[in-house]
Formats: sequence, C-alpha cells, structure tokens
Amino acid sequence: MGKRAKGVLRVRSILITGVSSGLGRALAARAHAAGWRVFGTTRREGTAAEHGFPDGITLLRLELRLPQAPRTFAARFIAEHGVPDVLVNNAAQAAYGPVELMDADALRQLFQVNVFSAIELTTGFLPGMRDRGSGTIANVTSIGGRTVFPFFTTYNATKHALEGFSEGLWHELKPFGIRVKVIEPGYVETPIYDVMSGVHRSYGAYGPAVEAMDAFARGVKRWTSPEAAAEQVLAAIEDTSGRLRYPVAAYARSLLAARALLGSELFIKVMHARWRRPDR
Ligand SMILES: NC(=O)c1ccc[n+]([C@@H]2O[C@H](COP(=O)([O-])OP(=O)(O)OC[C@H]3O[C@@H](n4cnc5c(N)ncnc54)[C@H](OP(=O)(O)O)[C@@H]3O)[C@@H](O)[C@H]2O)c1
Repeated sequence: MGKRAKGVLRVRSILITGVSSGLGRALAARAHAAGWRVFGTTRREGTAAEHGFPDGITLLRLELRLPQAPRTFAARFIAEHGVPDVLVNNAAQAAYGPVELMDADALRQLFQVNVFSAIELTTGFLPGMRDRGSGTIANVTSIGGRTVFPFFTTYNATKHALEGFSEGLWHELKPFGIRVKVIEPGYVETPIYDVMSGVHRSYGAYGPAVEAMDAFARGVKRWTSPEAAAEQVLAAIEDTSGRLRYPVAAYARSLLAARALLGSELFIKVMHARWRRPDR
C-alpha cells in the first residue's frame, strides 16, 4: 500500500492493537501482505518471528488494563515511528454471565480495556493526525454494539459505548481530514468466545436462562474465518468514502438489517422468543 507524495512512494503505516490472536492477528498478516507497514500490540513476550509473523511486522508490548498505558505508549510510538496513518482499536476482552453476578472490579476492568483504553490511545495520536491533516481511526465494535445479546450484556455495553464514541468522533474529526470507521463484526471464529466455556459456577436463579443462551449460541452455524473477516476489515480501512459503519462477517448485515426493518421494540421481542419462550 503506497501513497505517492511529491514523487516519492511512501509506505503507509497501520497500528493494530491485540494481534496475538483472532481478527487482529489476521488483519496484521493481511495488511502486511498488502504492502502496509504494520505495527501490532501484544501482551505476550517474544519477537514477531517467535509469534509466527513474517519479517516486517513490528510487535510492541501494551497492556490495556493499566490507565495511562495507552497515552504513554502513543507518545513513545510517535517518538520512535511517527504518527501512524491508521490506528485500529481492535483489542478487547469479553465477559459472559448475568449482570447481577458480575464482579464490580472485573466490570471496571472490562470498560478500561474495551472503552477507556481505546479513547486514550486515540487521543494520544489525534494531535499528530490533526497537524498532518490526515489519518484513520478504526474502532472494532460488534453487532453487539448496535444490539445486545443476553449475558453478553456488559461486554455489549462496552461496544455500545465505543459506537457512541466513534460516531461523535466522526463529527469532530471530519473537518480535519481524519476518517473514523466502526468495524462491526458478526460471528468470527476466534478465541474470544472461550469466555462462554469453562465457566463452572452456579448461575443460581439465572441457570435455565444461561442454559437457553448456551443452546442458542450452539445453534449458530455460520462462522467467518479471521482471515476472511480481515479481508473485509482491510477493505473498510482502505475505503476513502466518508462512511462510518462497516458490518463484517457472518450475520452482521442480516441482523442489523432485521433490527432496522422491525424497529428495536419488535426486534428484541423476536430475539427473546428465539432465545427463550416469549413468556419467560
Ligand atoms: N470474534 C467475533 O465473533 C467478534 C464479534 C464481534 C466483535 N469482535 C471484536 O473483534 C475484536 C477482536 O477480537 P477477536 O474475536 O479476534 O478475539 P481474540 O482472538 O480474543 O483477540 C483479542 C485480542 O485483544 C487482546 N487483549 C485482550 N485484553 C487485553 C488487554 N488487557 N491488554 C492488551 N490486549 C488485550 C488479546 O491479547 P491476549 O492474547 O494477550 O489476551 C488479543 O490479542 C474485539 O474488539 C472483539 O470485541 C469479535
């Protein structure tokens, strides 16, 4: 991916958070193959080669649970590599279970990682992008950022927050030539859903409802591979139109279209009936 400026072919740079697995990992590889200069963040030890990445992808350490870490990271990144052309806030953690049983500290951490860290990292790069008069911020939300799945409630709430942040940012940054994009994945086959398994605890009064949700999730038949999803994400990033939202991967377009068609009140009733009996 080159951009010709004053006769010089400049390789464009992309910084992606959370490239250790899933969509981030596939996007890093896809962008590298397409000629981008790729920087990816991970919490794990090891070089890019040790992580199985090809030469030319730069891995950097970043733990998003720590407030201030994204700002410090952004300042160091700019000093060493300049302001990236594209920032992809991809890293996130999921949470699963009844809201009533959520641990307050875990909830705060979820919002720190999924929302505040993305905001802090973004604002760390904004002055540089604004001075340059260009840049793209791509925030990976979810179809759960425009609808909500029971027991993914708190995780989906973080994605709703990121959607709202992104839409506001779209307005604020348009005059400066900075594009804001929301990537809304449907079902992508990644480790993020591991949060649903291995939870060996009693859900008490919520047990039957959680079991119904587990059965509903097992009924999901179409899954997009991280590689195919990454292809769609890169196309969204490279889209030079002023579009904000990009549903990608299995069920994303159809679910969001159904919600728009039915309206939110009818949509949640239909979804509830799919998941449980309407009288429950
Ligand atoms: N898979 C789907 O169907 C789906 C659907 C909707 C939205 N999404 C969104 O897509 C994005 C990518 O998720 P994925 O499905 O590819 O899941 P994933 O494979 O679990 O990847 C998540 C990435 O985020 C990183 N991360 C998590 N907590 C972190 C922290 N505290 N500090 C730094 N990095 C952290 C993980 O690093 P570690 O390996 O170190 O934990 C990993 O690299 C997320 O924003 C997710 O919400 C996915």
